[in-house]
Order: sequence, then C-alpha cells, then structure tokens
Amino acid sequence: MSSSVNNIKKMCVVGAGQMGIGIGLVAARIAKLDVQFVDSSPAQLEKGLSFLDKLLVKDVAKGKCTEDERTDIKARITSVSAISQITSADFVVEAVSENIELKRKIFAELSEVLPEHAILATNTSSISITKIASAAKRPENVIGMHFMNPVPVMKLVEIIPGLQTSQATLDTTLALAQKMGKTTAMSQDVPGFIANRLLMPYINEAVIALQEGIATKEDIDITMKLGTNNPMGPLMLADFIGLDTCLAIMKVLHSELGDSKYRPAVLLQKYVDAGWLGVKSGKGIYEYP
Ligand code: CAA
Repeated sequence: MSSSVNNIKKMCVVGAGQMGIGIGLVAARIAKLDVQFVDSSPAQLEKGLSFLDKLLVKDVAKGKCTEDERTDIKARITSVSAISQITSADFVVEAVSENIELKRKIFAELSEVLPEHAILATNTSSISITKIASAAKRPENVIGMHFMNPVPVMKLVEIIPGLQTSQATLDTTLALAQKMGKTTAMSQDVPGFIANRLLMPYINEAVIALQEGIATKEDIDITMKLGTNNPMGPLMLADFIGLDTCLAIMKVLHSELGDSKYRPAVLLQKYVDAGWLGVKSGKGIYEYP
C-alpha cells in the first residue's frame, strides 16, 4: 500500500445521489475516513443521509454492524450545501450526473478551495478524465474512480488515469480503493472505459430487442438472467441504473467513437423523454409501485 494513503483522513463526496451516498458510506465504514457530503439540494442531502442510515439500521438488525459502530460511522459524516463551504479534504470523489460542463465547473471550483495535495477523483461512467482534469488547477491530481452500483455491495472499482494524472495520484488512488475493500481494474481513458463499453451496448441491444418485438420484457430478462447466470436481466438492470444514465452513456459512446453500432435505441430515448427513468422515478421499462 502506498504510504501516502495513510495521510488521507478526510474525503469529500460531491453529489449525494445513490452513487455518492454509497461511496461515502464505504469510505466512512470500511476505510474509516471522515466524510463530508456536498449537495446544493437540501432535499437530496436529507434523502441520501436517511438512506445511508437505513442501510446501517438494516445491518445492525442483521448483526453485521453493532449499534456503537453505527454511531461511530454517523459521527464521521457531515454535510454542506456548497463547495465553498468545504472545510478542507485530502481526497474528493465527484459523483454528480453525467454532464461534462457541470463536472468541469465543479473541478474548477474544487481547485479554488482545496489544499494542493488533495486528489480529485471523478466517478464518471463514460466521460473523458483528461477533459475533466483540464478544468482543474492541478490536473496531475485528477483521476477517474468509477464505482459500481450499489457501491456497498459491488466489489469492483475501475481506475482511469487521464493523460495528465501523476504516478503518485494513481498509486494513492489504487491504495485507497483497496482500503475501501474494493478490487480494482485499470482502464485507458476511452469512452465508457471497460465496464460501460461492454455493458451499455448489451443493455441498448436488449431495448432494441424489446422495440422490435423479438420478445416480451420478461422473456428478454429471464433469458439473460437464467440463461447466462446474471443477477438481473438487462432491462431490469437498465431500470436499476437509470434509463437517463444509460442514455447519457450511449450518447457519449456514439458521439465519441462515431460508430453507428452505438446509436441509442429509439425506445430508450422515448422512455427518458416521458420521464420514465426506472426505479428512481417509479416507472421505467417496468413499474415500481
Ligand atoms: N445500496 C446498498 N445496498 C444494497 C442496495 C443499494 N442500493 N440494493 C441492495 N443492496 C444490498 C441489500 O441490502 C442486501 O444486503 P444484505 O445481504 O447485506 O442484506 C444485498 O444488497 C442483496 O440485496 P437483496 O437481497 O435485496 O436483492 P438481490 O439479492 O436481488 O441483490 C443486487 C440486489 C445486489 C442489486 C443484485 O441484483 C445485483 O447484483 N444486480 C446487478 C447489479 C449490477 O450489475 N451493478 C452494476 C451496474 S453498472 C454500474 O454501476 C456502472 C455504471 O456506470 C452504470
């Protein structure tokens, strides 16, 4: 383990959605870091922190965590509503929506408030790390750290150095991922990295199969679930990830790689246009009453 990972005491997580909350929980619980969430929406912060506590309460009930540990973990967690209010951090993970302009703005703002040694990681699932890093004052401190959903359960983190990322940033990030109990895979800074380069065309093809009436949604899912031993079929997984996220990633693959095989399914676009985003909106390809 790199020695500098021991100097990381406090992590900031920008964005208190399902990914950000999962990352912060694992950092506080497994790596025992102080964690500060940053989200401009008080409602989102409240929802996220209450979900985090729900997960801990469930683990206490199942005997996976003691009441004292739950109290300790919660004591390590704070929140603020703006980047300007961050009270220092050694490591930041940005986990906002897949919007390059928003991410670049956040990295520029983070550069203004954080100490020089701080590493700035992005949890982007497909956007160029090199492009995000170029908005930061110290691009050598910027790296991709792509967690999988649900973060507390999934063992993998993709690590993606950008063109400017220093070896020290890479070593510390690999060591931190390990300290958080994760296994790492390294990817080049290419659209979708490894996971989404393979997963999203599979999900998109499942939506095309549905659109073409090849089979019902249930039959598409059961085929891939029982026929290839996946925990979920591709359409249910799309709802779980969020159809808007799937669409955003397909758009990045399509525009950056320029191959028509990555064209988003018309039906995927339609569902997103209708506001049918999956589990989070109560309706997607399936309904979630
Ligand atoms: N957050 C935290 N924990 C969660 C959770 C969440 N959102 N959802 C489920 N879990 C936990 C449950 O609490 C439960 O934990 P315990 O066993 O400790 O009680 C455990 O996961 C199993 O949950 P369930 O029994 O409710 O349900 P399940 O056995 O059907 O598992 C699942 C649920 C883990 C989500 C499983 O269906 C699965 O692995 N699905 C595939 C997930 C996947 O492929 N993720 C990657 C998506 S791609 C991605 O993330 C990259 C990207 O950029 C889009």
